[in-house]
Amino acid sequence: MRIDIITVLPELLKSPFEASILKRAIEKGLVEVHLHNLRDYSIGNYKQVDDYQFGGGAGMVMMVEPIDKCISQLKSEREYDEVIYMTPDGNTLNQGMANEISMKKNIIVLCGHYKGVDQRVRDMFITREISIGDYVLSGGELAAAILCDAVIRLLPGVLNDETSALTDTFQDNLLAPPVYTRPSEYKGMEVPKILLSGNFPEIEKWREQKALERTKQRRPDLLEE
Ligand code: ADE
Repeated sequence: MRIDIITVLPELLKSPFEASILKRAIEKGLVEVHLHNLRDYSIGNYKQVDDYQFGGGAGMVMMVEPIDKCISQLKSEREYDEVIYMTPDGNTLNQGMANEISMKKNIIVLCGHYKGVDQRVRDMFITREISIGDYVLSGGELAAAILCDAVIRLLPGVLNDETSALTDTFQDNLLAPPVYTRPSEYKGMEVPKILLSGNFPEIEKWREQKALERTKQRRPDLLEE
């Protein structure tokens, strides 16, 4: 998979890809992540990428021309399956979306800033608009990092067995059951006996039951879907 991220703040997007699982995925060649500084596609001597909005009102709008130049350049080099725009008014990211996107070959992720992008960018290029939740960030970069993390960890070969994505919370519309590790007793609190029993079919049943209980209690909406 190849991910091209368009941003006015590439420095904000460096460190997420320089540690742990994402770093290893890149080193193993399972994903390529390319950062593009929108200012490199700006117009005029001032490296302008934003301007006042027509009709008046506070806040700048990201201009169509630099974004068009950047996306068109990328599209002239290869085919893209998706051009995703990170924006608080997009569809809220969930595991199903991450699963879907993880099956794409090449994607572009555009990070919004200020009041967002000129509507014509959305009309011309964007195939999917994604929000990471009902709150407003100062820009789409951290949202893009979260999307990339959720997607990259699903790529075949990225996770080892111990951290397998198959047993994650949300994977079957269920929250994950409680987990324990050593010691088996701590300050009088004991690990459920079944987990120490070695009876794996019974352990599996217990986990399913706990996952269901937790989901009913915390996220009944997941069971209705
Ligand atoms: N940009 C600003 N806020 C955002 C959010 N909640 N999700 C995605 N992109 C954003």
